[in-house]
Amino acid sequence: MASRSAKSGAATSADTSDRISSVLQEHRAFAPPASFRARAHVSSARQLASLRAEAEADPVAFWQERAKELAWFRPWKKVLDWKHPHARWFVGGTTNASVNCLDRHLGGWRRTKAALIWEGEMGEVRTMTYQQLHGQVCKAANALLKLGVQRGDVVAIYMGMVPETVIAMLACARIGATHNVIFGGFSSEAVRERINDSGAVVLITQDAAVRRGSIVELKSAADVAVKKCPSIRHMLVLSRCGVQVTMKRGRDLWWHDVVDGASPVNEPAQLDSEHPLFILYTSGSTGKPKGILHTTGGYLTQVAYTTRMVFDLQEDDVYFCTADVGWITGHSYVVYGPLMNGATVMIYEGVPNYPAPDRMWDIVERHAVSVFYTAPTAIRSFMKAGQAWPERHDLSSLRLLGTVGEPINPEAWMWYHSVIGKGRCPIVDTWWQTETGAIMISPLPGATTTRPGTATVPLPGIVADVVRKDGTSCGPNEGGLLVIKHPWPSMLRTIHGNDERYKAAYWSEFPKGRRHPGWYFTGDGARRDRYGNIWIIGRVDDVVNVSGHRLGTAEIESALVSDPRVAEAAVVARPDDIKGNALVAFVTVKVGVKASGALAESLRQHVGKEIGPIAKPDEIRFTDALPKTRSGKIMRRLLREIVTSGSATGDVTTLEDSGVLERLRSIEEE
Ligand code: WTA
Repeated sequence: MASRSAKSGAATSADTSDRISSVLQEHRAFAPPASFRARAHVSSARQLASLRAEAEADPVAFWQERAKELAWFRPWKKVLDWKHPHARWFVGGTTNASVNCLDRHLGGWRRTKAALIWEGEMGEVRTMTYQQLHGQVCKAANALLKLGVQRGDVVAIYMGMVPETVIAMLACARIGATHNVIFGGFSSEAVRERINDSGAVVLITQDAAVRRGSIVELKSAADVAVKKCPSIRHMLVLSRCGVQVTMKRGRDLWWHDVVDGASPVNEPAQLDSEHPLFILYTSGSTGKPKGILHTTGGYLTQVAYTTRMVFDLQEDDVYFCTADVGWITGHSYVVYGPLMNGATVMIYEGVPNYPAPDRMWDIVERHAVSVFYTAPTAIRSFMKAGQAWPERHDLSSLRLLGTVGEPINPEAWMWYHSVIGKGRCPIVDTWWQTETGAIMISPLPGATTTRPGTATVPLPGIVADVVRKDGTSCGPNEGGLLVIKHPWPSMLRTIHGNDERYKAAYWSEFPKGRRHPGWYFTGDGARRDRYGNIWIIGRVDDVVNVSGHRLGTAEIESALVSDPRVAEAAVVARPDDIKGNALVAFVTVKVGVKASGALAESLRQHVGKEIGPIAKPDEIRFTDALPKTRSGKIMRRLLREIVTSGSATGDVTTLEDSGVLERLRSIEEE
């Protein structure tokens, strides 16, 4: 309950970077309800403090204890081998992710427990027990082996949210193939780029996906993509919608032809702890997406542990994380984490507001969902639709709420707390990244006093800090950079095929040297309040968070300039009530091209085609020139000011204004 319900008051914070601005201070605090604590895994601040003390005394020993909770074929010889900036965890140990998710539960009564409850957008429901899911995964694993997929090969998965997507991932893991899941909303070009960068040998896809009552053709998009993917030997195609597709003889095979008839018995591969489990592409501040590489033992250890602790998983929970498997949240907290814990996982195929804005609440009610994990952008859109929608439903099965992906504004937090959680359910605001693999900063719901807008403090075993550019720790409420100071088990191992970029992107800001031993830089600005809670201020690089999805502005710019009519483009974000950020593209056109509304729309479509609809700029502003430094660097900072401060709203006149340009010209390179 609120210990103090004072309104937020403004506070200033000293900035170490001109991009890190001050934020509001939040005084409302919510202690875990006694009813929740009664059966929580960690049920008091004291218990959490002792876990934390254990971890602080020896983080490596702490994680070793957690790893013992997994199933291993052979134990490790060394817990951590750290050669800055490369970590190997549980060195010499062998394990298998699918065994940890499935086989481990078959010895007892969990065999007949529901592993997946899937609901299609059209309302169909499929439930699969652990035993059944295991059988399907073994069949799919045997089918992949038959197609010639070998240990270490990469398999691309371009699908919607259907049970077979989970089966495909686990089948890859079972035989030691590295999966590369590509979000089903990406375009052919984006698929092609990811397949080629990862060198995938097989692409698993479906005829079409269901979305907002209509059909999205994935197979035909995949056909266009693989035209220029020499590494692809086969396409395995699930028939989801029964739409007509072209099957190329010898290359394309139906899932039902090769998987359904395969043997349900499969001996899992005994894989090294450092065997690559998956590559997942994410945006960086330069044009090309980064293939984040995660390996097996360390990833599974931290994902299993954080799922149990942060979501306080209980045997009778129905756990629903709304993320798509195309993102890291889907990997860690739809598939691996909950299944390793033997949970019942709710999966929904479609969009959250179809056919009406209460689809989520309808699902919660009908399936008695108890743990609900979503993103702030979704919460804001639920808020906008109005509380009458959730009020139509019995939400009393809910006991815990979670959020991830971007900072949650206190208003949305309070709405989530009162309208959805009815004041009963703790909220876990979880901070982490594709690169971190698992949750890093979060409350433990039975032990932590939460405050709207902060993910609170790092979990036991995670050493994070907010520091100045010189590496010294910031004082209370002083804005700085969020760093991780000690290797953690589920950390990325490298960027696939580009270790130099790995070093430059994450380890060059605070390099190993005399002042410190070298830290991981998250790319996020943050501050710590006087209670030690960490408040994320936002990205400090040219990565923006739109609807909880990370987009590199450079990637969108390069898509824009690939249109022959565009000379130059700069993309920046402006705050948006629902999406968190909206994208504004400043575009200069080539001589002889007329800027028009039609051109703007066609450029938006072009970006949709190059990357996917999520990357389409919300607004395109044509301009004669972009503000630049003398060396020709576009000054996005100025553009950001133009789009956020009301003074230059919505038109190009300010930029064309010679006074502004004059001032812009006189600014030296940073
Ligand atoms: C942001 C998603 C504030 C942050 C799991 C981070 C957050 C980026 C939170 C990673 C949160 C994620 N509060 N900001 N609880 N969670 N972020 O790789 O900027 O898609 O660096 O991973 O999202 O996004 P990614």
